[in-house]
Amino acid sequence: MTPTVRPRRLRSTPAMRRLVAETRLHPSELILPVFVREGIDEPKEIGSMPGVRQHTIESLRRVVVGAAEAGVGGVMLFGVPAMRDAQGSSADDPDGILNAATRVVAAEVGDALVVQTDLCLDEFTDHGHCGVLRETADTDEVDNDATLERYRSMALAQAEAGSALLGLSGMMDGQVAAVREALDAAGRTGTAILAYSAKYASAFYGPFREAVDSQLSGDRRSYQQDPANRREGVREAELDIAEGADIIMVKPAMSYLDVLSDVSGVSPVPVWAYQVSGEAAMIEAAAANGWIDRRGAIQESLLGIKRAGADAVLSYFAVEVAEWIR
Ligand code: PBG
Repeated sequence: MTPTVRPRRLRSTPAMRRLVAETRLHPSELILPVFVREGIDEPKEIGSMPGVRQHTIESLRRVVVGAAEAGVGGVMLFGVPAMRDAQGSSADDPDGILNAATRVVAAEVGDALVVQTDLCLDEFTDHGHCGVLRETADTDEVDNDATLERYRSMALAQAEAGSALLGLSGMMDGQVAAVREALDAAGRTGTAILAYSAKYASAFYGPFREAVDSQLSGDRRSYQQDPANRREGVREAELDIAEGADIIMVKPAMSYLDVLSDVSGVSPVPVWAYQVSGEAAMIEAAAANGWIDRRGAIQESLLGIKRAGADAVLSYFAVEVAEWIR
């Protein structure tokens, strides 16, 4: 005899639904990406990212204090320098905008949340690529091993400035091992590595280009992953873990939930996901037109990312959501 199944019993009251919910959002599992720009006196709006600004160091200080008060787990800093060159020289300059801002942020909220820094050259190079280019070749060819030297130097500068977690987003081969080795050699064994393991060459990074005034003219397909590939995401994650990554990332999030699910199923280290600029922009644009409920869509998108296996999520909505759910 087949028993009569009545799943609606578990949907009948708010108290029951709350008790049996499998996934929930918590402020400590949200990380706010922030932008700091050199040479401006006032925060500057980013047209394609409503509510997100390029900050001065002083306005950034206020934002991270607010983030700490809202209980978010961390902030991820991106720097926008005034001057760029082929080597991305200001990236490892202790007085460069990212390192200077990190010093201020770490002093202000370093105990309340995890201060993280983007470790990549694209914001600092005049060609906008994530690494330095091979001198003889055409502009799209990144010199992997020369870039690793630059990353090692950036890692030491960021650690020295007070970053607790280095976000390796450049997708160079061997970047995790190179940075780990540089940190260990300098006695910086307490600085952790977040490896962007499965980072896809995505159209959803569009608004970010405006956020960092990117100089890129081509694309990143020679070093970022092909959106067609699922197994490759797991392979990249395994390599990064073997090289010493403390946390790994899948990025973007919403179009890559299958990869996120696969990676989180096999990873012995925490797995994070990045709800990137274009993903936030889609929600903002639809909501601004009255086509979707903004708050509902934001919460559902983050819940979906967590349900797929993310232990924490980088989101431009982090502080707002933390305030809603607190
Ligand atoms: C590289 C980096 C990018 C993003 C984060 N780190 C740009 C890229 O890889 O093209 C995109 C984040 C977003 O779109 O919100 N430094």
